[in-house]
This record gives sequence, structure tokens and C-alpha cells, in this order.
Amino acid sequence: MKNGTINRKKEHLKIAQNHSVHFEEITSGFEHYHFVHNALPEMNIEDIDFHTTFLGYDLKLPLIICSMSGGEQEGEMLNRDLAIAANKSGIALALGSIRPALENRDALGSFLVARENAPDIPIIANIGATQLVKDFKTKDLLKLLKKIQVDAISIHLNPLQEALQPEGEPHFKGVSRAIEILRETLPYPVIVKEVGFGLSFDVIKRLQKMGIQWIDIAGAGGTSWSRIEHMRTDDNVHRRIASQFFEWGIPTVDAILHAVRVKQMHIIASGGIDDGLKFAKAIALGADLAGAATLFLRARNSDGVEGITNLIKVFSETLRISMFCCGCRNLEEFRGNQSIISSRQK
Ligand SMILES: Cc1cc2nc3c(=O)[nH]c(=O)nc-3n(C[C@H](O)[C@H](O)[C@H](O)COP(=O)(O)O)c2cc1C
Repeated sequence: MKNGTINRKKEHLKIAQNHSVHFEEITSGFEHYHFVHNALPEMNIEDIDFHTTFLGYDLKLPLIICSMSGGEQEGEMLNRDLAIAANKSGIALALGSIRPALENRDALGSFLVARENAPDIPIIANIGATQLVKDFKTKDLLKLLKKIQVDAISIHLNPLQEALQPEGEPHFKGVSRAIEILRETLPYPVIVKEVGFGLSFDVIKRLQKMGIQWIDIAGAGGTSWSRIEHMRTDDNVHRRIASQFFEWGIPTVDAILHAVRVKQMHIIASGGIDDGLKFAKAIALGADLAGAATLFLRARNSDGVEGITNLIKVFSETLRISMFCCGCRNLEEFRGNQSIISSRQK
């Protein structure tokens, strides 16, 4: 059981790195939007400022590396490299599920390495919603969060992933109440996220009623867990069942637009944001921060810390040039500004 979680994390990293795990028919939806080019921006590019605040930190860029790893040696090295690059670039970092460390103290080091290498940025821990109702002890979780020195915890809602995993736990009865209790009792901000199938308007509204102020909509169009779980099993029937759900989910852009309609909800956008322009569009459509997972994994595995920092640079310069060519000096002018981005379908 203990090593089961760790082995599963290893397999996820390996499959996401080496195989085609993207949606094929559903797209993130950013291709349907384009910026309205402003040929007369009346500013210099040096005037652009996209600093933003998140969890009490000043970020140089509204970018986050989404939850992926921790628990074993490969995850530790990955978390170290992600932390070094994120700290250098002044962006936020979310760690993979800390369940391995709750089950096995030996796994703790792979999470501690983040704060050791990233003293200046927000770091977010992560746990699955089903753990909250099953074997969850607030006391143990709290101890762990203090040790890892995080600034918030995110809870992942992953009913489809749990339903498709051979060893999954698709037991969501009581999860809403558990989230509410956690938010009330934990002295840390609680963020709620999906894992790549998106949050609907109704779910976001319900989360707001539970007092949740930050969500990561983690929409469809990027990494597909149906595909990852399909590849993890040799059982033919399991593989066929997983394949029925290859194209299931709420596209990332749709989920951003649902979230924007929920007043005062803070939005992190992820799911298929695999280039700088999609990142810029996510912010223009109203996200507070946007981020990616598999893209950073692959950048790191091919070119190490430099690969990650170069990718961040591409995102940052694409945002800068997009803001410049839309005539927006800062994020207040750019974020959620309907006059600078329009749908081709209109
Ligand atoms: C290898 C891997 C491991 C992941 N592990 C977690 C996790 O532990 N907790 C979580 O909430 N999301 C996890 N995710 C989901 C990501 O945080 C993200 O929501 C999803 O991959 C969509 O982003 P992308 O299309 O940029 O990959 C993982 C993703 C990958 C690729």
C-alpha cells in the first residue's frame, strides 16, 4: 500500500514524459481567441509591468508550475530543479500530492527539498479529495505542512482519474463537507483544483459556498489522465474502459469563462497551456495566474534547470509583447479586458 502510492507516482511521471498523453479531439480552446492588435500602443515596451501578488508574495510573473511530483528519488530531483528555477524566476510552485509523505516518513525529503531551494516564492502542498474522507488526520497533515514550510494547500478533485485507476478510490461521498471543515480548521489557504478534466460553473459555485476563494480550473485539452491510466494497465478490459473517456472533460477556456462568472473567485488556469500565447490569453480571459505541468516536466527532463528557466523566459516575454501590442501597461489593464481579446467564432 505504502509503496503502491510511490510506484504509481513514478509510473505517472514516466508515462507523462515518454508517451503522447494529450487529448486529441478536445482542445483547450485558446485557438478560438485572438488578441486585438493595437498598432498604436503609445508606450515603450520597458513600461510593461506584470508583477502580481499571490499568497502574500510578489511574483515577477503570474505563472505557476502545477502539482506533479514528490515521494521518491526521481520526484525529489524534479522538485529540486523546479524549485531552483521557480525561485530564480520569481514564480509560484505547486508540489505533487503529499500522500506518500503521510504514508511513509522516508518520502518527506522529496518535499522538503522545495523550500530548501526556493526560499522566496509561494509553495503549495497538495492532497487528493478522497484522502480527506478516508484516512485523513488533520493533526498529521498540519505537522507535515509546517515541516515542508508551504504557504497553502490545494485539494485535487479527480473523480474520473480515481474511477479509471485500477487501484483508484472513487469515493466522493462526504468530500464537500471535508473540504469545508479543512478550510475552517487549517491555518492555511485552501485551493481546490481538478487534474485536467475541468471545473464546471456549478462546482465552482458550490466551492465558493464552502468558502473557497482560489481554484485551479485544470481544464481539458492538455494532459489526459484517461490516456495515462490507459497506458498504466495491461488488463485489456481496463484499457478499453479508460479509452471510452479519452475525450471527456471541460475545455480549459470554457472552465476559465465559467470561473470568471463567479464573482470574487480567484482563478488559476491550467490544462494544455503549452505555449506563451496560450498563457497570455488565459490571463487576458480573466485568470489571476496560469500554469502548466507536463510542459515543465519535459523541459526539465530534456535541459535541466536551464530548460525550465528558458521556458519561463519564453512565457514571460510572450506576455510582455502581447501586453505591449494590446496597449496594456499592467495586469489591471490586461486581465479580463474584453476589448483586447475576441472570439473568432463571434
Ligand atoms: C506526472 C504528473 C503528475 C501529477 N500529479 C498531480 C498531483 O499529485 N496532484 C494534482 O493535483 N495534480 C497532479 N497532476 C495534474 C497537474 O497538476 C495538472 O492539473 C494537469 O496535468 C493539467 O496540466 P497540463 O495540461 O499542463 O499538464 C499531475 C500531472 C502530471 C503530468
